[in-house]
Formats: sequence, structure tokens, C-alpha cells
Amino acid sequence: MEDDLKRVEEELLRVVASEGDFLTEIASHLILAGGKRVRPGFAIAASSVLDPTGAAASIEVIRGGCAVELVHIGSLYHDDVMDDATTRRSVKSVNAEWGNLRAILAGDYLLGRSSELAADLGTEVAGILATTITELCEGQILELESAYQPDRTIDTYERSIAGKTASLLATACRIGAIVGELPRPVVEAMTEFGEAYGMAFQVVDDILDITATDEQLGKPAGDDLVEGIYTLPVIHALADPTVAAELRTLLTPTITTAERDRARELVRASDGVRIALDEAQGWADKAAATLTDLPDTPGARALRAAADHLIERAAAPLGRKRFSRKAR
Ligand code: IPE
Ligand code: IPE
Ligand code: MG
Ligand code: MG
Repeated sequence: MEDDLKRVEEELLRVVASEGDFLTEIASHLILAGGKRVRPGFAIAASSVLDPTGAAASIEVIRGGCAVELVHIGSLYHDDVMDDATTRRSVKSVNAEWGNLRAILAGDYLLGRSSELAADLGTEVAGILATTITELCEGQILELESAYQPDRTIDTYERSIAGKTASLLATACRIGAIVGELPRPVVEAMTEFGEAYGMAFQVVDDILDITATDEQLGKPAGDDLVEGIYTLPVIHALADPTVAAELRTLLTPTITTAERDRARELVRASDGVRIALDEAQGWADKAAATLTDLPDTPGARALRAAADHLIERAAAPLGRKRFSRKAR
């Protein structure tokens, strides 16, 4: 898997090179900054869930993983414009470095390059990726529509994160399985894995926005509250009578840095983080359950480990390794 991920890096840089040095520089900015590469990792793992040998991935699988990562990176360029974020992957965001105009264009350029890769992999893959970009936009728009609404519902939140995050993780696994020519029931199981994992993944990201530091995240912590994005831990905190009244007074479009810090404190002191973690664990368990019928292969083990360890990062501030719903 490590060698395959190195091939992903080379391929990403090759694919985004343009005739113009400036565009190449902007388009490579977040690739060179790193990132976890969860999505190409999942494409590779999903493609190999039936292979006991741990053989290297085919070039088509590597390119499928790159197509998905390029959609992800392109969406980060646009997301950082939307969220007015100044850092990403521990470096300056593209908008902070070059301005919104160039960040939007370079994001579009990355989506274009991704589509070229996907087209080479066949109409099914290209179609899935196109639908995913649509769903991503729908999820982001839903989020915008509920900005600064303290009465945002869990249902609206879940529909938004299904579109903006879970869809692409599902697609990473699905494309890996399709390009890996796996039987259809396995393609469906992989898609379900990515979808459920993606829900847990975004809930964890939203918990970390409340509990972690800028340094730990490599992006600004607490930004969701400033942008009016009231995520699952906040929605639950707003239902906790011990903090709800004060928290509600802080959640406005004119929130100051001091008020943001106080709001984060209140959410941390409430039941919100624990309940959100509980729900993330539920999604992670659902992801793990999609793997039960698979043979014990390196690919299946990698996906299982991802589902098992996802919650740990978010649960660490609460002093527990694996969160148990029964321990409530
Ligand atoms: C960030 O995704 C956006 C979310 C869906 C939370 P990642 O956490 O995968 O970001 P990178 O790729 O590691 O930078
Ligand atoms: C993540 O959005 C989903 C997309 C990038 C489309 P967020 O705004 O929640 O992610 P971070 O916290 O900036 O990484
Ligand atoms: Mg956002
Ligand atoms: Mg953001």
C-alpha cells in the first residue's frame, strides 16, 4: 500500500502540470502540502479486498484514486474560499496566498483534470464522479442555507454531510472496486462502507473543530462557529439545558473571537461532544459491518482498521480509547 500511495503522489503531480508555470504552481500547492490521502487509500484498499496476495495496484486503480483526490482537493480550494479559511494542510490556503479569484479558478482546473482522468477509466466511472461533484455542491448549499440557524436540525445536518463528505468517500471505494473489476455485490458493499465511514469522518471532523487546536488540525479550529455552521456537537449542546441559553446568545453572525472561545468551552462542557461521538461510533460500526462477509485480505484489513481507529482521534480529549455507547 505504501508503494501504491507513492505512485499516487507522482501521478497527482503529473496530472496537474499545465503549460503555464503559475497554474501548475497553484494547482500543486495543496498536493505538495500533504494531507492524509484517505480517499486514494480507500480506492486502492477497496480494489484489493478479494486479493490475498497484497499485489501492487493497477495503474487504472491508481488513476481512479487520483481522480477522487483531485475532486477532494478542488473542493478544498473552493471550501476555503467559502469558509474564509487562511490555513489548510498546515500551510497557507490557496485563497490566502493568491486570492479568491485564483483559488476558484485553480479549483475548477483540478476538477477538470480529475474529469479527464475519470473519462479514461470509462463512462461508468466518469458518470459516478460527475454525480458525486453534484452531490458535493448540494451538500455545501444545504450547509449555506442553514448558516447562523441555531435551530438547525440533525436531519438537515446529516443531509448536508452526506452530500459534502460521505458521497466522495463512497465514490472513492466504489471506483476502486469497479476499476478493480470486483463482483457487483462487493462493489455495493464497498460503496456502503465509504458512505457510512464518510458520515463518521465528517462528524469526527466537526467534533475536532470544537475540541482541537489549530496546530493539531493544520487548519483553523473553531471556524465553524464563526461561519455559522452549527454542527452535530453544537446542535446537541443547544439541547442541553445546562449551557443552551448562554450558548444561543453567542451564536450570531457578529460573534467575536472571545465569544467563539466561550462558545467552544460551553459545547465542550455540555453533553454535545459525547453524544456526537456516540453517533460517529454508530456510523463507524455500520461501516465495519459492511466488511463482515469479506475474506481476510490486506485490503479488507486496511478498511477495517480505518473504521476501528477513526473515533480514537476525536475521543482522546475525553480520555477514552474506544467509545462505548453502553457506557452512557
Ligand atoms: C477535509 O478532509 C475535509 C473534510 C471532509 C472533513 P480530510 O480530513 O481528508 O483532509 P486532508 O485530505 O487530510 O487534508
Ligand atoms: C468539508 O467541509 C467538505 C468539503 C471540503 C466539500 P468543511 O468546511 O467541513 O471541512 P474543513 O473543516 O474546512 O476541512
Ligand atoms: Mg466548509
Ligand atoms: Mg472548511
